[in-house]
Amino acid sequence: MSEPHAPRRPLDPESAPPIFEASGLRKRYRLGAFTIEALRGVDLVVTRGEFVVVAGPSGCGKTTLFNLLGALDGPDSGSVLFEGSDLGRQTSGERTLFLRRKVGFVFQSFNLIPVLTAYENVEYPLRIDGLGRAERRRRTEEALASVGLAGRMHQRPDQLSGGERQRVALARGLVHDPRVILADEPTANLDSTTGAEIVDLLARTNTERGTTFLIATHDPAVIERSPRRIRLLDGRVIADEGAGARRPGGVR
Ligand SMILES: Nc1ncnc2c1ncn2[C@@H]1O[C@H](COP(=O)(O)OP(=O)(O)O)[C@@H](O)[C@H]1O
Ligand SMILES: [Mg+2]
Repeated sequence: MSEPHAPRRPLDPESAPPIFEASGLRKRYRLGAFTIEALRGVDLVVTRGEFVVVAGPSGCGKTTLFNLLGALDGPDSGSVLFEGSDLGRQTSGERTLFLRRKVGFVFQSFNLIPVLTAYENVEYPLRIDGLGRAERRRRTEEALASVGLAGRMHQRPDQLSGGERQRVALARGLVHDPRVILADEPTANLDSTTGAEIVDLLARTNTERGTTFLIATHDPAVIERSPRRIRLLDGRVIADEGAGARRPGGVR
């Protein structure tokens, strides 16, 4: 793993606008007689263009937090503002557009459709959106080329390596040119060399496209590499370190 990644953006963290402002996020799950406090009051601010790792052991609430930031689920209390607008107040139409256009998701298990080729997997969200064939083709080829898979796009997932599958998943996440990518343990199913290549690719995408990245991980190699590290434990932020970190109280 090479040098810590220095994002080109935010150019000036003082003036760059926030992309996410979460305050007082609480989420509990009920399992029969048990209640699990997955998030116990999380506050965080992420500026547009940042590259941020959310680090912490299994069960600390990373996936729950990402589900709230990505509007896949709602908090029991607290709020998430995305570019200043409250996700909790969105209409279902706004929410659909948010999910399709503003955020891209990358998962540990890649979540590719096995019967489709790499090309078709990446193109799929654009089909749902009803884009024309020529535009779909242009965007799909561009996304696959940007992850270094121009030569492998007609393979199915079972014909690709783990690293290549994760590249396809990233291309699918990028095909709408979202403002932010939420990557949940993107290296957990990869060997360390391949994982490092994927982190390099995420970092390069951040620098070249300006896409904001939040990466949930417990992989020390990924954590060390990130310019900003938010550490979660038992549903709370216990540290926020590095460039762009917000000190408790919100004043920099
Ligand atoms: N759908 C769910 N139902 C019940 N408990 C859950 C659910 N999702 C997560 N949890 C629990 O919430 C806590 C936080 O989980 P999670 O957000 O998945 O953490 P992480 O991604 O850091 O491993 C854990 O104790 C987990 O078991
Ligand atoms: Mg998780």
